[in-house]
Amino acid sequence: MPRPVYLDYAADMPVLECVKAEMFRVIQLDCGNAAALHTWGHRAHEIMEEARVSVARLIGAEPDEVIFVSGGSEANNTVMESFRGQRVAISSIEHPSVLEAAKVRAREMVQIPVDEWGRVRVDDVPSRVDLVSVMLANNELGTIEPVQEVVAYGHRHGMLVHTDATQAVGKMHINVKELGVDYLTLSAHKFGGPIGVGALYVRMGAPYRSLVLGGHQENGQRAGTSNVVGIAGLGAAAKWCWDEWSCKKWQSVAGLRDELKSRILAEVPYSSCNSPAEGCLPNILNMSFRGAEGESIQLYLDAEGIAVGTGSACASGDIKPSHVLMAARGDAEVAHSSIRFSLGIETTRADIMRVMEVLPKVVRKLQGMSTIKVKARG
Ligand SMILES: Cc1ncc(COP(=O)(O)O)c(C=O)c1O
Repeated sequence: MPRPVYLDYAADMPVLECVKAEMFRVIQLDCGNAAALHTWGHRAHEIMEEARVSVARLIGAEPDEVIFVSGGSEANNTVMESFRGQRVAISSIEHPSVLEAAKVRAREMVQIPVDEWGRVRVDDVPSRVDLVSVMLANNELGTIEPVQEVVAYGHRHGMLVHTDATQAVGKMHINVKELGVDYLTLSAHKFGGPIGVGALYVRMGAPYRSLVLGGHQENGQRAGTSNVVGIAGLGAAAKWCWDEWSCKKWQSVAGLRDELKSRILAEVPYSSCNSPAEGCLPNILNMSFRGAEGESIQLYLDAEGIAVGTGSACASGDIKPSHVLMAARGDAEVAHSSIRFSLGIETTRADIMRVMEVLPKVVRKLQGMSTIKVKARG
């Protein structure tokens, strides 16, 4: 069997070696409860505060503006909890942890439409809500959103702005002060840290209501005994991104991604690209293959040792088309036949070649079995 190829970095990036080493060091330290006043507690507290400084530095925040949480979903839910009973506008391609949380908490929720590449137009942002939430980059398409412009517009109209930067952190330069956002979500496992830990940036003075009650941890802003080892991992991943981030590295990832795209368009029948050519994260490529179901392609590729993602959500055997692709393209067939390739800094040209050895055969086979007559898109 050839070497496995992992192209699902947007779902989870493998934990970096330096992060593993730091987590291992901390777990061996005999740390206590970070809230305790004894030496063991102080030790844990110090580790957390170091991590807070690294996370704050990575996004250009003050350490006091960083609240540790269990990940992107909790951070997004916390923002929506802070606007319970108020009016909220979100882009129609937000992650379900924004979408569902806003649905149940907001008094009124407006969805902002997107163009065919999944991009919000600032003119479509309403002017009379309390909070606007537009993600920094979309997890399925890679589309980078005009968050700075949304903030300028939002603040002019007295609205606060949240951005979910879960996919963007570690892939592009981020500075909360330059963006001007009031809230920003990040999650460790998307940039080399462990699963189950993340952070919410809350601008000093911005309204805030804790989602998890019953303790005074995180300055009374998030109850629960602190996950010191996980937070140390988050801090180490943030430090790595700060120290090692280079445009050149990501340009070469984007080069491989573009090579994959050109080869797919040239060699795979009825393929089309859903990710924008400009203003896209360097590592994400979303493609549709008319006449072949995304989940079937995923399973066939997995059998060949290749991991990719799809945007569809499978609930009780019923596969729902991705709401992101439906919002951008409005075409269920495009949505059902889509695959997300997400690359990482470890991805090589050999990986791309291997995908192109297998993918055209898999797609042709599925298209041949399909009862849907495929026709090329204009
Ligand atoms: C854009 C976006 N937001 C939020 C999340 C949820 O993050 P977590 O897995 O840390 O809860 C994800 C995870 O895929 C995501 O891609």
